[in-house]
Amino acid sequence: MRKIDIFDTTLRDGEQSAGVNLNTAEKLEIAKQLERFGVDVMEAGFPAASPGDLDAVRQIASTIKNSSVTGLARSVKSDIDAAWEALKVAECPRLHVFIATSPIHMTHKLKQTPEQVVETAVESIKYAKQFFPIVQWSAEDAFRSDPVFLAHIVEQAIKAGASVINLPDTVGYATPHEYGAMFKYMKDNVPNVDQVKLSSHCHNDLGMAVANTLAAIENGADQVEGTINGLGERAGNAALEEVGVALYTRKDAYNVQTNLTLNEIKRTSQLVSQLTGMMIQANKAIVGKNAFAHESGIHQDGVLKEPTTYEIITPELIGEESNNLVLGKHSGRHAFNDRAKSMGFQLDKEALNQAFKEFKQLADRKKEITSEDLWTILTQQQLKDEGAATYELESVQVHYGTEDSPMATARVKVPDGTIQEDACNGAGSVEAIFNTLERIIDGKVHVLDYRVSSIGKGRDALGEAVINLTFNGEEFTGRGAAQDVLEASAKAYLNAVNRSLLQSRMKQLITTSV
Ligand code: KIV
Ligand code: ZN
Repeated sequence: MRKIDIFDTTLRDGEQSAGVNLNTAEKLEIAKQLERFGVDVMEAGFPAASPGDLDAVRQIASTIKNSSVTGLARSVKSDIDAAWEALKVAECPRLHVFIATSPIHMTHKLKQTPEQVVETAVESIKYAKQFFPIVQWSAEDAFRSDPVFLAHIVEQAIKAGASVINLPDTVGYATPHEYGAMFKYMKDNVPNVDQVKLSSHCHNDLGMAVANTLAAIENGADQVEGTINGLGERAGNAALEEVGVALYTRKDAYNVQTNLTLNEIKRTSQLVSQLTGMMIQANKAIVGKNAFAHESGIHQDGVLKEPTTYEIITPELIGEESNNLVLGKHSGRHAFNDRAKSMGFQLDKEALNQAFKEFKQLADRKKEITSEDLWTILTQQQLKDEGAATYELESVQVHYGTEDSPMATARVKVPDGTIQEDACNGAGSVEAIFNTLERIIDGKVHVLDYRVSSIGKGRDALGEAVINLTFNGEEFTGRGAAQDVLEASAKAYLNAVNRSLLQSRMKQLITTSV
């Protein structure tokens, strides 16, 4: 069977989603999980965008060994230099360089003639080839480009040394038939096309990103690009978990294979959702909460008699355990550590001890500890371990009555190590907590969005709060989990502020070390 390379751009195109703001520790966590998921290539960021982005790409490139790590660059020397700075530590440095080729982009954005665009593309590839053994070249807005011009520039890009040619539908305008036809046209009209791999990159503005990706495969694409949970600019990119499961389930139709480890899908999807703060819609294919829920009596009856009546894929295929009760009140430290290790967490002894303590506290209050609960405890501990905490919640209390205005009291460990306590009221309990924390925090906070949901099922499930706020004018997302949603809300608020402080500290460190 033909092998399709999977190129993940969650950390670059996905991170461009409105409101998503990952710090380096979080990007590294996602990168390690993408490696376990088995992606062939991961785009770790856009090194020229900022010193922080460059540093994150460098750290990922020096950590990841089983996937090829790449970074994006515009067709200018300074971008390629920044990418080399970040990627030269990689096992096999790979560059992704792009320029727009559609009349709309060339005229209005680049203000270059088609001939100038060809010249710039060729120059940038030749320049990059002095450093990078593998250069992927992308024709931004390829789908809206003139096919004859596109074939010409692709031929020149291959001559200049590109080994992968990516043909994006940048604005999500194509239909599957049309997008597939573009690949066929390139195969038939670019004389040196056999020297390279063709790659698809689809956006989901009309909801056709995955269908377009599959059409590209049918018409000769050897690599497909996308993101976990379909994250990305505007309506997002092709969801890689959907592409992977479609290729597996319908191998009779596509007759291709990938290196993906499908039973890592659930974990990868949850990690990305938690760290980006982007919730997954309940009815989302493959990873939505309801993706395997049979609700109607007729369906339930059918599935009980014979699962394949209504189930074309099983939860086990994507790593969703049907019975995910993992540990209980009487589980010991050894079982806990083993489980953490098998879930892929690498925590030092102190962090493991702290996580175990939190697990025991939760087990006292909650009958069943699920893998989702464990995952939440361990992730929070891992991020703390990597220095993410600056303000730490010691305690929070709310006095609430239907007749009174709620009053909150909070104790917080602040960055200088002292404990500060304050109290304030608000129109509701959550507002009272936020008002109180605002009095303790040194900076201007403005809450933009806030939501709570439960992690797992049951009345004693953990609550998770996600908050979007601006801190001193910059936007951040924070998350917090606890058995009580008010405590989770206070943690989410402080987490967002801590992320902002961590980012400023990183910027300072990078500027002083340059
Ligand atoms: O959508 C797009 O065209 C891109 C390119 C930079 C590859 O993301
Ligand atoms: Zn894109």
